[in-house]
Amino acid sequence: MYILGLNDSNSAAAIIKDGELIAAAREERFDRIKFSDSYPTKAVDYCLSTAGIGIKELDYIVFAWNPGHELEPQCSSAAVRDHKHFLHYIPNNLLRHIGGDKSNKRIASIDEKIEFNEGELSIRFVPHHHSHAAGAFFVSPYEKAAIMTIDGYGDDITHKFFIGEGNKLEPVGKTLFPHSMGHVYAAVTQFLGYRANSDEWKVMGLAAYGNQDYYDRFAKVIRFDKDVGELRVNLDLFSYYIWTPRRYTDVFINMFGPERYPNDEITDRHMNIAASFQKRIEDVVLDMCTYLAEKTDMDNLCFSGGVAMNSKMNGRILDESPFSKVWVQPSADDAGCSLGACFYYWNQVLGNDRSFIMEHDYWGPGFSDDEIKSVLDNSLVSYEYLENPESEAAKSIADNKVIGWFQGRMEHGQRALGNRSLLADPRDPKMKDKINGLIKHREWYRPFAPSVMEEYQGDYFEIDHHSPFMQMVYPVRKDKHDVIPAVVHNDGTGRLQTVTKVANKRYWKLIDEFRKITGVAVVLDTSFNDNDEPIVCSPKEAVRTFYGTGIHELYMGNYRIVKSK
Ligand SMILES: [Fe+2]
Repeated sequence: MYILGLNDSNSAAAIIKDGELIAAAREERFDRIKFSDSYPTKAVDYCLSTAGIGIKELDYIVFAWNPGHELEPQCSSAAVRDHKHFLHYIPNNLLRHIGGDKSNKRIASIDEKIEFNEGELSIRFVPHHHSHAAGAFFVSPYEKAAIMTIDGYGDDITHKFFIGEGNKLEPVGKTLFPHSMGHVYAAVTQFLGYRANSDEWKVMGLAAYGNQDYYDRFAKVIRFDKDVGELRVNLDLFSYYIWTPRRYTDVFINMFGPERYPNDEITDRHMNIAASFQKRIEDVVLDMCTYLAEKTDMDNLCFSGGVAMNSKMNGRILDESPFSKVWVQPSADDAGCSLGACFYYWNQVLGNDRSFIMEHDYWGPGFSDDEIKSVLDNSLVSYEYLENPESEAAKSIADNKVIGWFQGRMEHGQRALGNRSLLADPRDPKMKDKINGLIKHREWYRPFAPSVMEEYQGDYFEIDHHSPFMQMVYPVRKDKHDVIPAVVHNDGTGRLQTVTKVANKRYWKLIDEFRKITGVAVVLDTSFNDNDEPIVCSPKEAVRTFYGTGIHELYMGNYRIVKSK
């Protein structure tokens, strides 16, 4: 049985066959628009071609929102009814994939099926937070877990608690819009001069440079009310009911001072606001964890929703919450809802037992050596074939070169995890500035991440709990700050990826070769893209980015391309 899952906001598609994930990809990787929210036409085509089927062979198409909710009476204004277009938008777009004479197609009902000459498509709408929860729990290693979802808005809900057991999710609490941590986060992001719902991680990076001067003020902005089990936001501070470009009110400005505009200098006040806000939302989420652990009596937590992309917060949850194990899906943001909706339907609705654990995140397009060679030939570049690209790449990294590392199938999530990565020597204290200057052209305060062999994680980090998807920030051991300075953030932490031989043999081998040369089992890993561009997907995009930036060498499959100077 094939189930295709779609999401529309960080648009993505995923396909499962008999309960096993086959493919998943974000539309931005194909249309080259960062955080694309277009209908995922190309991602759907990619999923179908990877499965080797046409759309007519799908048993179900599931969509990770419930537009029926928009038809319900609501206490707030029409401003929040911003997803009712899904009622026509999804079936209309699906018709594109059928082909043939469109006059023979007819929408039989709003959420059931599209009939056409040769058959029908069965469409199911899955509630948004159920999609988040299913994408976290049903693919996790846990038989039982508490589940927490937190985002900006999903079917009028902004946070939800579940108990997950076997193939069932049971909701045990929620917060309704407009009390939304995700929207507060977006408003603070905008207040600090960044793009809401896009640049939140810049606020997280900036936070490492500030102090807690504004913490008490943020304590009056957002809290978790444990008596009712819901988030509470001071609504006087935010523009929720009437849509305006500015997400915060004059009351917020009176409290925190004037907003920063995008090209304004970053001052200590901005850094202190970022740091105070980061600490406040961490503390609120820790309160939520304490409440949820008491309510469910579970040891394991699955965490999902856009807020779960805050890896600094996730590290504290693991370290300080009552939960002993924490699992965060690599696409905890809305793109992961595409596969979450698939597993919700397969496990919860159809009642199938769970048989799939997400051990890695390499669900996107891959390219053979022949396909890579063809692109290189057509680009008229000089290249060489290597029997052992891992050891050659390791030598170049140890020689202080920045390399492009393009291997296997692309990552589905926002983080490059060693298949579409730029790699460099973490021992060089100037490496961060070097990469920012020559390649990434991004803000000085954003850290680069360490990829560490699982066998050596405890030598470098104070927490040994594995972090395969770069969703956790842990303190770096003090005696290693001077050993790997390029990947230690200003607050002494690192957003690590634990690399295992099983999940990514080639990447593991590269780091091991680097270790043999240098004695350090860590490399600097950042995504293979220029600033504000989606991560490269195809060999052609890799070649373009390679020649448009200061990357020294490019390794694609078994081929190496070296710049003459
Ligand atoms: Fe969401």
